[in-house]
Amino acid sequence: MIDDLRKEIENIKEKLLNEIDDIQSLEEYQSLRDKYLSRKKGILASLMSKLKELPPSEKPVFGNILNSAKKFTEEKLNEFEIKLVSKSEKSIDGTLPEFDTIIGGTHLITYIRRSIENIFLNMGYKIAEGPEIEFDENNFTLLNFKEDHPARDEQDTFFIKDFPDMLLRTHTSPVQVRYMKNTKPPIKIISPGKVFRKDEPDATHVPVFHQIEGLLVDTDINFSHLKGTLEIFLRALFGDDTSLRFRPGYFPFTEPSAEVDISCFLCGGTDNKCRICKGSGWLEILGSGMVHREVLANCGIDPDVYSGFAFGLGIERIAMLKYGVTDLRFLFENDLRFNNQFG
Ligand code: DAH
Repeated sequence: MIDDLRKEIENIKEKLLNEIDDIQSLEEYQSLRDKYLSRKKGILASLMSKLKELPPSEKPVFGNILNSAKKFTEEKLNEFEIKLVSKSEKSIDGTLPEFDTIIGGTHLITYIRRSIENIFLNMGYKIAEGPEIEFDENNFTLLNFKEDHPARDEQDTFFIKDFPDMLLRTHTSPVQVRYMKNTKPPIKIISPGKVFRKDEPDATHVPVFHQIEGLLVDTDINFSHLKGTLEIFLRALFGDDTSLRFRPGYFPFTEPSAEVDISCFLCGGTDNKCRICKGSGWLEILGSGMVHREVLANCGIDPDVYSGFAFGLGIERIAMLKYGVTDLRFLFENDLRFNNQFG
Protein backbone atom coordinates (compact mmCIF):
# COMPACT_ATOMS: atom_id res chain seq x y z
CA MET A 1 0.00 0.00 0.00
CA ILE A 2 2.66 2.50 0.93
CA ASP A 3 4.49 1.68 -2.30
CA ASP A 4 1.40 2.53 -4.33
CA LEU A 5 1.17 5.84 -2.56
CA ARG A 6 4.86 6.50 -3.15
CA LYS A 7 4.29 5.91 -6.84
CA GLU A 8 1.21 8.11 -6.91
CA ILE A 9 3.19 10.95 -5.37
CA GLU A 10 6.00 10.58 -7.92
CA ASN A 11 3.36 10.85 -10.68
CA ILE A 12 1.91 13.96 -9.11
CA LYS A 13 5.38 15.57 -9.03
CA GLU A 14 5.96 14.78 -12.66
CA LYS A 15 2.57 16.14 -13.67
CA LEU A 16 3.29 19.31 -11.70
CA LEU A 17 6.53 19.92 -13.63
CA ASN A 18 4.74 19.48 -16.96
CA GLU A 19 1.93 21.77 -15.98
CA ILE A 20 4.36 24.46 -14.78
CA ASP A 21 5.96 24.38 -18.23
CA ASP A 22 2.64 25.24 -19.83
CA ILE A 23 1.85 28.33 -17.71
CA GLN A 24 1.42 31.59 -19.66
CA SER A 25 0.09 34.08 -17.14
CA LEU A 26 0.03 35.00 -13.51
CA GLU A 27 -3.63 33.92 -13.32
CA GLU A 28 -2.77 30.45 -14.61
CA TYR A 29 0.08 30.27 -12.14
CA GLN A 30 -2.23 31.17 -9.28
CA SER A 31 -4.79 28.52 -10.16
CA LEU A 32 -2.09 25.87 -10.54
CA ARG A 33 -0.76 26.77 -7.14
CA ASP A 34 -4.25 26.37 -5.68
CA LYS A 35 -4.75 23.09 -7.49
CA TYR A 36 -1.75 21.54 -5.75
CA LEU A 37 -1.36 23.43 -2.51
CA SER A 38 -4.81 24.67 -1.49
CA ARG A 39 -5.35 23.53 2.07
CA LYS A 40 -8.91 22.45 1.48
CA LYS A 41 -9.14 21.15 -2.04
CA GLY A 42 -5.50 20.81 -3.08
CA ILE A 43 -4.18 17.50 -4.45
CA LEU A 44 -1.64 17.16 -1.68
CA ALA A 45 -4.14 17.95 1.03
CA SER A 46 -6.50 15.30 -0.30
CA LEU A 47 -3.75 12.65 0.02
CA MET A 48 -3.73 13.29 3.73
CA SER A 49 -7.01 11.39 3.96
CA LYS A 50 -5.15 8.20 2.99
CA LEU A 51 -3.18 8.45 6.20
CA LYS A 52 -5.89 6.90 8.29
CA GLU A 53 -6.14 3.87 6.02
CA LEU A 54 -2.53 2.91 6.73
CA PRO A 55 -1.34 0.65 9.55
CA PRO A 56 0.23 2.60 12.42
CA SER A 57 3.80 1.56 11.52
CA GLU A 58 3.54 3.11 8.04
CA LYS A 59 1.87 6.35 9.07
CA PRO A 60 5.11 8.25 9.89
CA VAL A 61 6.76 7.03 6.68
CA PHE A 62 3.90 8.29 4.57
CA GLY A 63 3.83 11.56 6.53
CA ASN A 64 7.47 12.14 5.61
CA ILE A 65 6.90 11.37 1.92
CA LEU A 66 3.95 13.72 1.85
CA ASN A 67 5.86 16.53 3.55
CA SER A 68 8.78 16.30 1.20
CA ALA A 69 6.38 16.29 -1.78
CA LYS A 70 4.80 19.45 -0.43
CA LYS A 71 8.19 21.06 -0.03
CA PHE A 72 9.14 20.05 -3.57
CA THR A 73 5.90 21.52 -4.98
CA GLU A 74 6.35 24.81 -3.12
CA GLU A 75 9.97 25.16 -4.26
CA LYS A 76 9.16 24.54 -7.90
CA LEU A 77 6.21 26.93 -7.86
CA ASN A 78 8.21 29.65 -6.09
CA GLU A 79 11.11 29.33 -8.54
CA PHE A 80 8.66 29.67 -11.37
CA GLU A 81 6.94 32.67 -9.84
CA ILE A 82 10.24 34.56 -9.66
CA LYS A 83 10.88 33.83 -13.33
CA LEU A 84 7.36 34.91 -14.28
CA VAL A 85 7.57 38.23 -12.45
CA SER A 86 11.00 39.13 -13.80
CA LYS A 87 9.80 38.33 -17.30
CA SER A 88 6.86 40.72 -16.96
CA GLU A 89 9.18 43.44 -15.63
CA LYS A 90 11.40 43.05 -18.66
CA SER A 91 8.44 43.91 -20.85
CA ILE A 92 8.47 47.52 -19.58
CA ASP A 93 10.16 49.52 -22.32
CA GLY A 94 12.40 52.10 -20.65
CA THR A 95 13.17 53.82 -23.92
CA LEU A 96 9.61 55.10 -24.37
CA PRO A 97 9.12 58.84 -23.62
CA GLU A 98 7.58 59.63 -20.22
CA PHE A 99 3.87 60.31 -19.87
CA ASP A 100 2.90 63.94 -20.23
CA THR A 101 1.40 64.26 -16.76
CA ILE A 102 -0.44 67.52 -16.10
CA ILE A 103 -0.42 68.48 -12.45
CA GLY A 104 -3.48 70.52 -11.54
CA GLY A 105 -3.28 73.87 -9.80
CA THR A 106 -5.58 75.71 -7.44
CA HIS A 107 -8.38 77.72 -9.03
CA LEU A 108 -8.17 81.42 -8.24
CA ILE A 109 -11.51 81.38 -6.40
CA THR A 110 -10.33 78.52 -4.20
CA TYR A 111 -7.01 80.25 -3.63
CA ILE A 112 -8.65 83.48 -2.45
CA ARG A 113 -11.16 81.58 -0.31
CA ARG A 114 -8.40 79.65 1.44
CA SER A 115 -6.31 82.81 1.98
CA ILE A 116 -9.28 84.47 3.69
CA GLU A 117 -10.16 81.34 5.67
CA ASN A 118 -6.59 81.16 6.96
CA ILE A 119 -6.64 84.76 8.19
CA PHE A 120 -9.79 84.05 10.22
CA LEU A 121 -8.72 80.60 11.41
CA ASN A 122 -5.68 82.35 12.86
CA MET A 123 -8.03 84.64 14.78
CA GLY A 124 -9.86 81.64 16.26
CA TYR A 125 -12.87 81.58 13.93
CA LYS A 126 -14.52 78.34 12.88
CA ILE A 127 -15.69 77.57 9.36
CA ALA A 128 -19.42 76.90 9.11
CA GLU A 129 -21.24 75.72 6.03
CA GLY A 130 -24.83 75.90 4.92
CA PRO A 131 -26.85 74.45 2.03
CA GLU A 132 -27.10 76.15 -1.35
CA ILE A 133 -30.82 75.36 -1.51
CA GLU A 134 -32.37 77.32 1.35
CA PHE A 135 -35.70 78.06 2.92
CA ASP A 136 -37.10 81.47 2.12
CA GLU A 137 -37.38 81.90 5.88
CA ASN A 138 -33.61 81.59 6.50
CA ASN A 139 -32.59 83.54 3.42
CA PHE A 140 -35.00 86.45 4.00
CA THR A 141 -37.61 86.38 6.76
CA LEU A 142 -35.50 85.63 9.81
CA LEU A 143 -32.88 88.08 8.49
CA ASN A 144 -35.51 90.79 8.87
CA PHE A 145 -36.31 91.30 5.17
CA LYS A 146 -39.88 92.63 5.06
CA GLU A 147 -42.43 90.94 2.80
CA ASP A 148 -42.11 93.60 0.08
CA HIS A 149 -38.30 93.86 0.03
CA PRO A 150 -37.11 94.18 -3.60
CA ALA A 151 -34.53 91.36 -3.19
CA ARG A 152 -37.43 88.95 -2.82
CA ASP A 153 -38.57 89.89 -6.29
CA GLU A 154 -38.60 87.01 -8.76
CA GLN A 155 -36.20 89.06 -10.88
CA ASP A 156 -33.34 88.48 -8.46
CA THR A 157 -33.98 85.12 -6.89
CA PHE A 158 -34.12 81.60 -8.29
CA PHE A 159 -37.16 80.05 -6.66
CA ILE A 160 -37.67 76.30 -6.79
CA LYS A 161 -40.59 75.16 -8.87
CA ASP A 162 -43.28 73.36 -6.84
CA PHE A 163 -41.59 74.39 -3.57
CA PRO A 164 -42.64 78.00 -2.99
CA ASP A 165 -40.85 78.21 0.35
CA MET A 166 -37.47 77.21 -1.11
CA LEU A 167 -34.88 78.99 -3.23
CA LEU A 168 -31.23 79.06 -4.21
CA ARG A 169 -29.67 81.21 -1.49
CA THR A 170 -28.96 84.74 -2.70
CA HIS A 171 -26.25 85.32 -0.08
CA THR A 172 -24.32 83.45 2.63
CA SER A 173 -26.13 85.32 5.42
CA PRO A 174 -28.67 82.48 6.04
CA VAL A 175 -25.75 80.52 7.52
CA GLN A 176 -25.79 83.11 10.32
CA VAL A 177 -29.39 82.12 11.03
CA ARG A 178 -28.72 78.39 10.92
CA TYR A 179 -25.71 78.71 13.19
CA MET A 180 -27.35 80.98 15.75
CA LYS A 181 -30.45 78.76 15.96
CA ASN A 182 -28.24 75.81 16.89
CA THR A 183 -25.39 77.27 18.91
CA LYS A 184 -25.26 79.32 22.07
CA PRO A 185 -22.83 82.30 22.07
CA PRO A 186 -19.91 82.85 22.02
CA ILE A 187 -20.09 82.43 18.24
CA LYS A 188 -17.17 83.16 15.94
CA ILE A 189 -17.61 81.83 12.42
CA ILE A 190 -16.93 82.52 8.80
CA SER A 191 -18.92 80.83 6.10
CA PRO A 192 -17.73 80.62 2.50
CA GLY A 193 -19.86 79.34 -0.34
CA LYS A 194 -21.75 79.72 -3.58
CA VAL A 195 -24.68 82.11 -3.94
CA PHE A 196 -27.14 82.58 -6.80
CA ARG A 197 -28.87 85.54 -8.40
CA LYS A 198 -30.87 85.86 -11.59
CA ASP A 199 -28.40 87.91 -13.61
CA GLU A 200 -27.53 87.79 -17.30
CA PRO A 201 -23.82 86.94 -17.48
CA ASP A 202 -21.56 89.81 -18.54
CA ALA A 203 -18.10 91.03 -17.55
CA THR A 204 -19.21 91.98 -14.03
CA HIS A 205 -22.23 89.71 -13.43
CA VAL A 206 -22.58 85.95 -13.23
CA PRO A 207 -25.63 84.09 -11.88
CA VAL A 208 -23.45 81.97 -9.56
CA PHE A 209 -20.74 83.56 -7.47
CA HIS A 210 -19.02 83.18 -4.10
CA GLN A 211 -19.25 85.01 -0.81
CA ILE A 212 -17.69 84.79 2.60
CA GLU A 213 -19.84 85.63 5.58
CA GLY A 214 -18.48 86.50 9.03
CA LEU A 215 -20.35 86.46 12.34
CA LEU A 216 -19.28 87.09 15.90
CA VAL A 217 -21.75 87.06 18.82
CA ASP A 218 -20.84 87.38 22.49
CA THR A 219 -21.51 89.61 25.48
CA ASP A 220 -20.48 93.29 25.18
CA ILE A 221 -19.59 93.25 21.50
CA ASN A 222 -19.60 96.73 19.96
CA PHE A 223 -18.75 98.52 16.75
CA SER A 224 -15.06 98.92 17.65
CA HIS A 225 -14.69 95.12 17.67
CA LEU A 226 -16.02 95.08 14.11
CA LYS A 227 -13.63 97.85 13.07
CA GLY A 228 -10.60 96.21 14.66
CA THR A 229 -11.41 92.80 13.18
CA LEU A 230 -11.90 94.14 9.68
CA GLU A 231 -8.72 96.19 9.96
CA ILE A 232 -6.68 93.09 10.82
CA PHE A 233 -8.39 91.08 8.10
CA LEU A 234 -8.10 93.62 5.29
CA ARG A 235 -4.48 94.51 6.12
CA ALA A 236 -3.57 90.84 6.09
CA LEU A 237 -5.22 90.48 2.69
CA PHE A 238 -4.20 93.73 0.97
CA GLY A 239 -1.07 94.84 2.83
CA ASP A 240 -0.08 96.46 6.12
CA ASP A 241 -0.41 100.05 4.91
CA THR A 242 -4.06 99.64 3.85
CA SER A 243 -6.44 102.25 5.31
CA LEU A 244 -10.13 101.60 5.93
CA ARG A 245 -13.15 103.84 5.44
CA PHE A 246 -16.56 103.07 6.91
CA ARG A 247 -19.57 104.60 5.18
CA PRO A 248 -23.16 104.37 6.39
CA GLY A 249 -25.03 101.60 4.60
CA TYR A 250 -28.25 99.67 4.83
CA PHE A 251 -28.85 95.96 5.26
CA PRO A 252 -32.07 94.69 6.86
CA PHE A 253 -30.15 92.32 9.17
CA THR A 254 -27.67 94.80 10.66
CA GLU A 255 -28.19 98.03 12.61
CA PRO A 256 -26.17 100.14 12.20
CA SER A 257 -24.80 98.95 8.87
CA ALA A 258 -21.62 100.04 7.15
CA GLU A 259 -20.03 99.69 3.73
CA VAL A 260 -16.29 99.31 4.03
CA ASP A 261 -13.77 100.69 1.55
CA ILE A 262 -10.01 100.20 1.49
CA SER A 263 -7.44 102.64 0.20
CA CYS A 264 -6.43 101.82 -3.37
CA PHE A 265 -3.46 99.46 -3.18
CA LEU A 266 -2.58 100.19 -6.79
CA CYS A 267 -2.28 103.97 -6.98
CA GLY A 268 -3.18 105.15 -3.49
CA GLY A 269 -5.43 107.76 -5.09
CA THR A 270 -2.67 109.39 -7.15
CA ASP A 271 -3.74 108.20 -10.60
CA ASN A 272 -6.83 109.70 -12.20
CA LYS A 273 -6.95 106.87 -14.71
CA CYS A 274 -6.30 104.06 -12.18
CA ARG A 275 -7.70 100.78 -13.51
CA ILE A 276 -9.45 99.98 -10.27
CA CYS A 277 -10.21 103.12 -8.24
CA LYS A 278 -10.52 105.54 -11.19
CA GLY A 279 -8.65 108.12 -9.15
CA SER A 280 -11.02 108.12 -6.15
CA GLY A 281 -8.39 106.42 -4.01
CA TRP A 282 -10.96 104.03 -2.47
CA LEU A 283 -12.25 100.56 -3.31
CA GLU A 284 -15.56 99.22 -2.03
CA ILE A 285 -14.85 95.85 -0.42
CA LEU A 286 -17.61 94.59 1.85
CA GLY A 287 -20.83 95.11 3.74
CA SER A 288 -21.00 94.89 7.51
CA GLY A 289 -22.76 95.97 10.66
CA MET A 290 -23.98 95.12 14.13
CA VAL A 291 -26.37 92.15 14.07
CA HIS A 292 -29.94 93.51 14.27
CA ARG A 293 -31.68 92.84 17.60
CA GLU A 294 -34.58 91.43 15.66
CA VAL A 295 -32.31 88.86 13.98
CA LEU A 296 -30.77 87.76 17.27
CA ALA A 297 -34.23 87.32 18.73
CA ASN A 298 -35.49 85.46 15.64
CA CYS A 299 -32.67 82.95 16.19
CA GLY A 300 -33.32 82.45 19.90
CA ILE A 301 -30.52 84.68 21.22
CA ASP A 302 -31.47 87.28 23.85
CA PRO A 303 -30.50 90.71 22.42
CA ASP A 304 -30.45 92.20 25.93
CA VAL A 305 -27.63 89.84 26.87
CA TYR A 306 -25.74 89.37 23.63
CA SER A 307 -24.62 91.52 20.75
CA GLY A 308 -22.58 90.83 17.65
CA PHE A 309 -21.23 91.97 14.34
CA ALA A 310 -21.42 90.49 10.85
CA PHE A 311 -19.91 91.12 7.48
CA GLY A 312 -20.05 89.70 3.97
CA LEU A 313 -17.86 90.00 0.90
CA GLY A 314 -17.71 88.66 -2.63
CA ILE A 315 -14.75 86.51 -3.62
CA GLU A 316 -15.05 87.40 -7.31
CA ARG A 317 -14.73 91.07 -6.44
CA ILE A 318 -11.38 90.36 -4.75
CA ALA A 319 -10.33 88.43 -7.88
CA MET A 320 -11.11 91.49 -10.02
CA LEU A 321 -9.46 94.02 -7.75
CA LYS A 322 -6.41 92.17 -6.49
CA TYR A 323 -5.67 89.82 -9.37
CA GLY A 324 -6.76 92.03 -12.26
CA VAL A 325 -9.44 89.67 -13.59
CA THR A 326 -11.27 91.82 -16.15
CA ASP A 327 -14.21 89.53 -16.96
CA LEU A 328 -15.90 87.32 -14.37
CA ARG A 329 -16.85 84.77 -17.01
CA PHE A 330 -13.18 83.78 -17.32
CA LEU A 331 -13.44 82.33 -13.82
CA PHE A 332 -16.03 79.78 -14.90
CA GLU A 333 -14.94 78.78 -18.37
CA ASN A 334 -12.09 76.48 -17.29
CA ASP A 335 -9.78 77.68 -20.03
CA LEU A 336 -6.36 76.52 -18.87
CA ARG A 337 -4.68 79.53 -20.49
CA PHE A 338 -6.55 81.62 -17.92
CA ASN A 339 -6.48 79.23 -14.96
CA ASN A 340 -2.74 78.52 -15.21
CA GLN A 341 -1.91 82.17 -14.58
CA PHE A 342 -2.90 81.67 -10.94
CA GLY A 343 -2.42 79.05 -8.22
N1 DAH B 1 -25.54 89.55 2.52
C1 DAH B 1 -25.08 90.82 1.97
C2 DAH B 1 -25.13 90.76 0.44
O1 DAH B 1 -25.23 89.72 -0.13
C3 DAH B 1 -23.66 91.09 2.40
C4 DAH B 1 -23.58 91.40 3.85
C5 DAH B 1 -23.73 92.71 4.29
C6 DAH B 1 -23.40 90.43 4.79
C7 DAH B 1 -23.65 93.05 5.61
C8 DAH B 1 -23.35 90.74 6.15
C9 DAH B 1 -23.48 92.07 6.53
O2 DAH B 1 -23.19 89.83 7.09
O3 DAH B 1 -23.41 92.37 7.85
O4 DAH B 1 -25.10 91.79 -0.17
